[in-house]
Amino acid sequence: MQNFEFYNPTRIVFGEGRVAELNRLVLADARVLILFGGDSARRNGTLAEVEAALGDRYVQHFGGIEPNPSYETLMRAVEQVRAEKLDFLLAVGGGSVIDGTKFVAAAVNYSGDPWDILETHGQTITQALPFGAVLTLPATGSEMNNGGVVTRKATKAKLPFRSALVFPRFSILDPTKTYTLPPRQIANGVVDAFVHIVEQYLTYPANAPVQDRFAEGLLLTLIELGPVALQDPKNYDVRANLMWVATLALNGLIGAGVPQDWATHMIGHEITAQHGLDHAQTLAIVLPAMLQERRGAKRDKLLQYAARVWGATQGDEEQRIDAAIVRTRDFFESLGVKTRLSDYQLNNAVIEPIVQQLEAHGMTRLGEHRDVDLQTSRRVLEASL
Ligand code: NZQ
Ligand code: ZN
Repeated sequence: MQNFEFYNPTRIVFGEGRVAELNRLVLADARVLILFGGDSARRNGTLAEVEAALGDRYVQHFGGIEPNPSYETLMRAVEQVRAEKLDFLLAVGGGSVIDGTKFVAAAVNYSGDPWDILETHGQTITQALPFGAVLTLPATGSEMNNGGVVTRKATKAKLPFRSALVFPRFSILDPTKTYTLPPRQIANGVVDAFVHIVEQYLTYPANAPVQDRFAEGLLLTLIELGPVALQDPKNYDVRANLMWVATLALNGLIGAGVPQDWATHMIGHEITAQHGLDHAQTLAIVLPAMLQERRGAKRDKLLQYAARVWGATQGDEEQRIDAAIVRTRDFFESLGVKTRLSDYQLNNAVIEPIVQQLEAHGMTRLGEHRDVDLQTSRRVLEASL
């Protein structure tokens, strides 16, 4: 196992009816900004419940944080917090709202140009406002991690940042808040969480059986529950387990002490930035081709994944690896998430600009061996058509 430091200070308040506990979780004299996305949180009553729980506290709102939150929109929230001297942020929504809130928290008292936060991937963050979250979409793990992704619309740059200063103080996970999610977002959430696990598990053996078996357990749970979550949207137990799996998939636990990949994500971010596809759609496109391209370097773990996650134990090693990749693609398709660029009306003309953006953003040595260069990324994209 590799050396590691594990730190996760986020308090998770899990279960039906727990939004009311905001009254306990937020200081009585806090000046609160509630941040949210479009109108889903208002329509399904979550926002009203949040407002009621905050009682007499001084509260303002900032709505309109878009999926794949933009720097341009978030800077308006930063201005509001500064002008109104607000001191606590509360994200109500999915990964985009929580990521956006993390950025606002770090940007409000940032001494330079806040875009630097993204250009340095968070290294220049020295302080952040405290914030909490009420999660409405199980997918990203943002509710219990220290990362975020923000897009600058003007330059089509979608950049990740992380800092120990942007863990949420708390996150409320009420599975009933996911009942109103459209099937597309549930499917996206399953795919995103699945690929988060794969990015931390499917690398090379590191003598870390606990992390491996945690990861395999989470993958098997997603394979079991994903389809049921779509068929039976108001099944509390299914939604509860899905929510907790997605959180555990990216809260640092399974990634501690093991090599990590993330090449699929970095290429996926460029596809979203250029063409607006949902985050999970880009992962479903890139991952099968990525595994195929790197089947040599990932051989031992691919065989383990084939056997333990997909039960593929028949045939020779190449056949078992083939089976694992096919089953992965079929799983995404079975959820309704298409796995080819052409399914989204994108052809080979899109590949070169994506490769150029990878270069512009310094994404030239990706993967657990840092050997996914631009040529490799190009081949992966060509195989994704
Ligand atoms: O905007 P509203 O009206 O709220 O609608 C949202 C949005 O259209 C809707 N929605 C959310 N909760 C709902 C609901 N609709 C009905 N009922 C509910 N309960 O769902 C749509 C998508 O929301 P979004 O927050 O964009 O989805 P997700 O949670 O998948 O977040 C995606 C973003 O997270 C980033 C992605 O890159 C992307 O920008 N990621 C963040 C990570 C992290 N912080 O660690 C890791 C991930 O790899 C990912 O990159
Ligand atoms: Zn993701």
